[in-house]
Amino acid sequence: MRFYTVMRAAAAALLLTLAPAQAEENPWDPLPPGEGAEETYYACIACHSLRTVTNGGYSQRVWDELLDWMVEEQGMWELEPDERALILNYLSTYIGEDWQG
Ligand code: HEC
Repeated sequence: MRFYTVMRAAAAALLLTLAPAQAEENPWDPLPPGEGAEETYYACIACHSLRTVTNGGYSQRVWDELLDWMVEEQGMWELEPDERALILNYLSTYIGEDWQG
């Protein structure tokens, strides 16, 4: 009886620790959540893993150049100016120089 009570408490404690993690599940994983994550996800997953993106951690200037390089040398379609600005802002804000991914 005692053992059962202890096990039940342990199970409840486990559920409590798991619940918040599930509530915060990030659909854009491994991209960090943030404004522009969705657009970045779909623009970049077309050709390579998003790990290629999260291996980054570049300044805005470097991300800017990388986007041009993706278009000019890697066959990426030209992004609409609004979308490009959103994605560039997302990359340099959330996967910028101090990104520890
Ligand atoms: C049309 C295809 C295509 C699209 C779309 C694309 N890439 Fe790439 N990307 C490539 C290729 C090809 C490479 C080089 C081979 C590799 O690393 O897989 C590359 C490499 C990279 C690298 C590694 C560069 C290096 O010097 O190691 C980064 C960072 C990157 N892409 C970021 C992005 C981001 C951010 C997006 C979305 C905005 C994106 N890519 C979308 C084709 C693409």
